[in-house]
Amino acid sequence: MRTDKDTWDITTSVGSTALFVAAARALEAQKPDPLAVDPYAEVFCRAVGGPWADLLDGTAPEHPLKSEEFGQHFVTFQAARTRYFDAYFRRAAEAGVRQIVLLAAGLDSRAYRLDWAAGTTIFELDQPQVLDFKRDTLAAYGAVPRAERREIAVDLRDDWPQALRDSGFHQHEPSAWIAEGLLIYLPASAQEQLFTGIDSLAGSGSHLAVEEGRPMDRDAFQAKVQEAKSVDDERGQWWQLVYNEQHAPAAQWFSERGWDAEATTLLDYLQTVGRSVDSADAEAANMLASITLVSAVKG
Ligand SMILES: C[S@@+](CC[C@H](N)C(=O)[O-])C[C@H]1O[C@@H](n2cnc3c(N)ncnc32)[C@H](O)[C@@H]1O
Repeated sequence: MRTDKDTWDITTSVGSTALFVAAARALEAQKPDPLAVDPYAEVFCRAVGGPWADLLDGTAPEHPLKSEEFGQHFVTFQAARTRYFDAYFRRAAEAGVRQIVLLAAGLDSRAYRLDWAAGTTIFELDQPQVLDFKRDTLAAYGAVPRAERREIAVDLRDDWPQALRDSGFHQHEPSAWIAEGLLIYLPASAQEQLFTGIDSLAGSGSHLAVEEGRPMDRDAFQAKVQEAKSVDDERGQWWQLVYNEQHAPAAQWFSERGWDAEATTLLDYLQTVGRSVDSADAEAANMLASITLVSAVKG
């Protein structure tokens, strides 16, 4: 269960979710027709080794990411969101934005794999041990960031705006923000603090991308949490890590504050990229139907 000041590394608690989504990206990259290719996702899995390497070698058929009912849909979901947000960052860069803020950067490797214009600075915020693992792993692999990369080891429930300013973020210049795979791990009060922080730090012409999920019915969620206690794998543990809360739909909240926001459901986006979901089991269908991808530009 979560506590207000909980901490983690890359294989524990919320930190392990960064590895889980990286593993999904690595599995997508193995497909003949991937929606997105993140070559560093495999590097992270192999650095941790054990079941994470077995998964990529096809020798862990029992891993939740391999299941027909959940795993294959989750991999497609991650691939789609990677593609959506990669395109978002390209648009922001083409518009001249040179300050990038990865909130809950986890094992997001965009600093290393996207083409950034000269003069771009990428601020990566996450808990210290997650950032340590990523830096050390990619350095050992010989990967080099394609922009100036600044790590900000901070908890996003604390005063992260001050930490960002202290790292040289320029409030009056445009910036491009992302909250991908983050909101569900924050209680509604911290989501509100996050949105408020972004809005107060983002100058005119700034860009924002958010992935959000519609909360489940409270009783159904509690039942799922109880049921998951008896399932001893990443998927079972995951239910203990999330807050089934939503402060406000991002497109609505930012629109009311002068942003031009567009919300795309994951199901619609999957159709756009030729990966419509026909027959998913109930849990996978609910997951896919609950997700919305949002992008916005501040006027
Ligand atoms: C599912 S991962 C997503 C990582 C990355 N954005 C991606 O999509 O690959 C969730 C990330 O959120 C980070 N995170 C969650 N709550 C946080 C908090 N309160 N402070 C800092 N980081 C947090 C975790 O450490 C983890 O790296």
